[in-house]
Amino acid sequence: MKLKTPCEVSHKTLTFDVEEIEPILQGYPMDMKPWPGAMVTLKDGREMYIREAKLEEAPLMLTYLEKVMKVEHDFYDIVGARVYSEVLGWYRKRLKDPYTLVGMIDGEWVGFANGRLMNKDINISLHTMALARGGRIGAVMYYAKAYYGFEILGNKEWWATYESYNGWMRWGVGMAQPSYPWPDVQHELGGARVYYVTKEYWDQAVKTYVQQMIGADLVFDVPDKLIKANEIMRLPEEVVV
Ligand SMILES: CC(C)(COP(=O)(O)OP(=O)(O)OC[C@H]1O[C@@H](n2cnc3c(N)ncnc32)[C@H](O)[C@@H]1OP(=O)(O)O)[C@@H](O)C(=O)NCCC(=O)NCCS
Repeated sequence: MKLKTPCEVSHKTLTFDVEEIEPILQGYPMDMKPWPGAMVTLKDGREMYIREAKLEEAPLMLTYLEKVMKVEHDFYDIVGARVYSEVLGWYRKRLKDPYTLVGMIDGEWVGFANGRLMNKDINISLHTMALARGGRIGAVMYYAKAYYGFEILGNKEWWATYESYNGWMRWGVGMAQPSYPWPDVQHELGGARVYYVTKEYWDQAVKTYVQQMIGADLVFDVPDKLIKANEIMRLPEEVVV
């Protein structure tokens, strides 16, 4: 688009260094406390370690997500495709204040949960995935990110939505989440209904969710041995969902 200049200018052309454009496209990050890492004992006795994914692990995760997005049952395809774009958005710095948690057992990637901060009060839950089924790994991963939001980041509200029946059953029903009027209020994932948890409701009821689901809590005092065993991410050999 061009318009005639309203005054004389000495330089008709201005050039930009792309590093000057980047802060405008990227925005500046909020000062987020890191997820400290936690372990949890699953129903079958295995210890899952939940840690932040490392940025340099993103390309590896993307190779696996390419396979997950081809799974045509239980909505793994749509969730896989969207998670692919979110991990890439995090990697390429095109997502505002994201957090990316991975569930690991003996170095193998078994669970995923991510979200982003809309602002200091509202935490947008994006996606949760169990890469191994039957252990309630997904239930725990979702709880861990909500715990992160309310207990560590000091958020006041949690906004989620559901693409799958399993997701809706696990948390929409499982946490008895109310929803905002729709379509007046829409979640950024496709404009669906926003289900929410307030800090007050979290404190009163939801905090016991994971104890009820698997009979154990998150433990933050994690032995070095477990941390070390899960330092290097290994992809599952195949997609088993
Ligand atoms: C939603 C999700 C994260 C829940 O994970 P989860 O809590 O670990 O639960 P699972 O999906 O493994 O299992 C759900 C139930 O079906 C049973 N089940 C389903 N498939 C199973 C399988 N292949 N093997 C064993 N059990 C299975 C489980 O035992 C479980 O029953 P339970 O309630 O008695 O524990 C997971 O289903 C998932 O990743 N789905 C695809 C992505 C998705 O929909 N994400 C949420 C977007 S809203």
